[in-house]
Amino acid sequence: MNFTQKSSVWVLVALLCACAREPAPVPVDAVAAANADQPQLLVYRSPTCGCCESWAGHMQDAGFSVQVKDMQDQELGAIKAEAGVPAGLESCHTARVGDYFVEGHVPAEDVKRLLAEKPDARGLAVPGMPQGSPGMEQGGAAEPYDVLLVAKDGSTSVYAHHGD
Ligand code: CU
Ligand code: CU
Repeated sequence: MNFTQKSSVWVLVALLCACAREPAPVPVDAVAAANADQPQLLVYRSPTCGCCESWAGHMQDAGFSVQVKDMQDQELGAIKAEAGVPAGLESCHTARVGDYFVEGHVPAEDVKRLLAEKPDARGLAVPGMPQGSPGMEQGGAAEPYDVLLVAKDGSTSVYAHHGD
């Protein structure tokens, strides 16, 4: 599978994200003041992605120090590859916290648990963009979804379940 094929899934997701969402009402400081007490979260997203902005606001409200980096889809694909996000698990944005990636609309409570438990893993992923997940509250009825833990070897296990 070449790069274009691999990236097409999340590019589609990102486009849906951009088209379906109003800009988020919660402004996120592009460069938040560094606070040693707060975990530092770096969010990579397309500049037109409203639900990414909304998720970043959710993380900031939960006590993370959030920085948002806007980039083009091609660059975002490179970020995902470098972070080790497996093909098929992509969402609209990719974040880094410590040595972990956080892919998509992962609830803050699960990221906090990740940082507390420090599993030997690449990170957490919520593939696609489930309705009702943080940043995806507007619109249709909430749907149940899993937060996946991606191990160092790329295998996944269910880390948390939400929505019912
Ligand atoms: Cu999204
Ligand atoms: Cu997003």
